[in-house]
Amino acid sequence: MNSFELNKFIGAILGVVFVVFSISLLSDAVFSSPEPETPGYAIAVPESAPEGGGEAPAAESVLPLLASADVSAGEAVFKRCGACHTIEQGGPNKVGPNLWGVVDRPIAGHEGFSYSSALTEFSEGGQKHWTYENLDHFLTSPKGLVPGTAMSFAGLGSVQDRANLIAYLRTMADQPAALPEAAPAAQEGAAAPAEGGGEQAAQAAADPVLSLLANADASNGEAIFKRCGACHTAEQGGPNKAGPNLWGVVDRPIASHEGFSYSGALKEFSEGGQKTWTYQNLDHFLESPKGLVPGTAMSFAGLSKDEDRADLIAYLRTLADQPAPLPGAATPAAGEGGAPAEGGAAAPAEGAAPAAPAEGAPAGGTQAPAQPEGNAAPAAPEGGATQPAPAQ
Ligand code: HEC
Ligand code: HEC
Repeated sequence: MNSFELNKFIGAILGVVFVVFSISLLSDAVFSSPEPETPGYAIAVPESAPEGGGEAPAAESVLPLLASADVSAGEAVFKRCGACHTIEQGGPNKVGPNLWGVVDRPIAGHEGFSYSSALTEFSEGGQKHWTYENLDHFLTSPKGLVPGTAMSFAGLGSVQDRANLIAYLRTMADQPAALPEAAPAAQEGAAAPAEGGGEQAAQAAADPVLSLLANADASNGEAIFKRCGACHTAEQGGPNKAGPNLWGVVDRPIASHEGFSYSGALKEFSEGGQKTWTYQNLDHFLESPKGLVPGTAMSFAGLSKDEDRADLIAYLRTLADQPAPLPGAATPAAGEGGAPAEGGAAAPAEGAAPAAPAEGAPAGGTQAPAQPEGNAAPAAPEGGATQPAPAQ
């Protein structure tokens, strides 16, 4: 190859190199993505320093302290959360989600709140719940348990503060979750002899569907629900259609589903959210919606067969993270459910109670459908009111 051809050859190589460099420079210019100065969005509320200062200490567990925790001291601790959270039932979301019923609630599960992807991932698609342990760890150090959470709060270093606070959060629910110590007693409840037979029989006579519930066929109820499906979804987080989503409707405050616009008639009937969908209310409503609530917007003639309503209500009951106890089931906690606002409701008494609600086991975060009580109910002792809610 003579020198002239060599020059052409080298020229060709240089040309290719030039073109490659130009392309890479150009594409950098075209596709450049400058780093944001502050990733995500920052929340301007100052973090309060944790008691211990600095890193969250290797924390003690609140579990043994919960039974004797001071609920009203917990209410005072909650003031630190109030800048970002409401706690009352149906309260709005602020910087953080409303915390009514947060104990045992699915993590990142409050409707209408847009959670960080960190917390959403941590929830494993709603599988994980705010057990006492999870709450304890989260409140010790939110970013320690969930790196990347949007909750800008340094944490509570004092185990006593956390215990008091969690005991307070626990009371802010229709039906406070069982205390951790109470959980093992739950099995015994089923075996206890029925002493209140007389009273239950009277109740059952007044409302036959209540006595049918224990042996009702939830899968037949699911089939019956097809008649409701034109207007209602039943799955968690499902949309409202002509009627509101019915996830968790048993014991839910009447006319309370977020984002649904209820008739004035049903709102009045709810007495401002005081009344809940007890088994009895549901039974009467489903027998004749307009019979129970004249003027309700639910255009449905009603189900006249007792068995159909029992099966349907048994099915509705399973549509919840924690199905409500069956009527007549032993629920010492129920008395307390009636008065969640009274911080005084002494927790220790309950730790010693013989029988906890069967679904109570707070650590077992997974869905617990109806099986246990189905068998246990005939032997259930007279336990508290059939429905905790109307006492409110
Ligand atoms: C600076 C505002 C702020 C403060 C103060 C704050 N939080 Fe939060 N909290 C948030 C935000 C934002 C989220 C949502 C976190 C996410 O999406 O990652 C949250 C989430 C939570 C959750 C999870 C709720 C759910 O539905 O999964 C709990 C429980 C919680 N906070 C409890 C508390 C408690 C108790 C306190 C007081 C000790 C407190 N927070 C103080 C902003 C705050
Ligand atoms: C034609 C549509 C329609 C059908 C069918 C229907 N519903 Fe409804 N439902 C509604 C509407 C609308 C409301 C709201 C009523 C109001 O605001 O007064 C409602 C309300 C309810 C409520 C009260 C919910 C709450 O959060 O307060 C319950 C419970 C309910 N329906 C259960 C059922 C069941 C169970 C069935 C099937 C047996 C059924 N509905 C069939 C339209 C319907």
